[in-house]
Amino acid sequence: MKVNKKDYSTIWFENNKIKIIDQTKLPFKFEIKELKSLQSFVSAIKKMEVRGAPLIGVTAAYGLAFEILREPSRSNIFKTYKKLFNCRPTAINLRWALDEVINTVLKIPPKKRGKESLKIANKIRNDDIKSCKQIGKNGLEIIQNIYKKKKRCINILTHCNAGWLATVDWGTALAPIFFAKRKKIPIHIWVDETRPRNQGALLTSWELKNENIPHTVIVDNAGGHLMQNKEVDMCLVGSDRTTISGNVCNKIGTYLKAVVAYENKIPFFVALPTSTIDKKIKKISDIPIEIRDGSELSKVNLKIKNKLLSANIFEKETPTLNPAFDVTPKKFITKLITEKGICDPKEEKIKRLLRNR
Ligand code: MRU
Repeated sequence: MKVNKKDYSTIWFENNKIKIIDQTKLPFKFEIKELKSLQSFVSAIKKMEVRGAPLIGVTAAYGLAFEILREPSRSNIFKTYKKLFNCRPTAINLRWALDEVINTVLKIPPKKRGKESLKIANKIRNDDIKSCKQIGKNGLEIIQNIYKKKKRCINILTHCNAGWLATVDWGTALAPIFFAKRKKIPIHIWVDETRPRNQGALLTSWELKNENIPHTVIVDNAGGHLMQNKEVDMCLVGSDRTTISGNVCNKIGTYLKAVVAYENKIPFFVALPTSTIDKKIKKISDIPIEIRDGSELSKVNLKIKNKLLSANIFEKETPTLNPAFDVTPKKFITKLITEKGICDPKEEKIKRLLRNR
């Protein structure tokens, strides 16, 4: 997508260097950073310089490839896999991408492993762009249908950031929105601020501003009121892990929105690449929920004049709990939008979809 009229993606390989956009600085500063060591990959994922399930997966694949190029032994591959795997536990794309790399490279001689792993990481990256673009086209149909019925501006509520910054390009939940804009469908986006990291207020609003898409940031608690007052036509969010039976784990607060949407008969859509589907986990309670540091609740970043500062909004010794994700049971979900098509959140439907080429 464009930033200051120039095309960017969130991660790329150029002149033997892996570069990312440092998302912890956005929207105040647009900074490109090179990842130069395994530690820099680990810390970029942990500190959320890169974030969003698909992008976490791509970054981990590059991190593993980077390390295999340096030292292709089996023991180093396993050690690195473990280090990267433990960075963020909920986003299934992390495991999926690491498995894609090791399942191939462990079968070939050490000398060939470096080049091959980089080839796989590049493919994961490029496939993610294709998938997200297709999710955009598939999701556009849904927005178009709602527009045909309502014949007025469509109000879409989204949570967190599932835009291009959460993937390599295009995004998942925001991809249909970008396509709708290109098709001149009148849309307006309610952007949940998404405490505590504020991905909505900081990142989603920045993406929408860059694309000239009308939007309004709201506090996380406002969605229920808006839905009750018919100010929302549809909800559209991303997913960090979707069980094969159709339950969706996404940014904390997604569940609350889905329940209120259901209560108010507002369709609730989840956009995801099929790499986000966990074929093993069946029980919701088996999904690992990342618990992040409580300082994310008490500490806020501030822009004062042109300086970026941080401050505490309550005493940092106050006990806190900071679960980063929650699970929305399938009964609250209208449809899943994937690159392979749109389907009901039901096991047999998802399995059939996965068989599509
Ligand atoms: O903690 P984050 O910012 O990595 O969480 C991101 C989300 O919850 C997204 O909705 C999800 O990863 C889908 S991204 C296409």
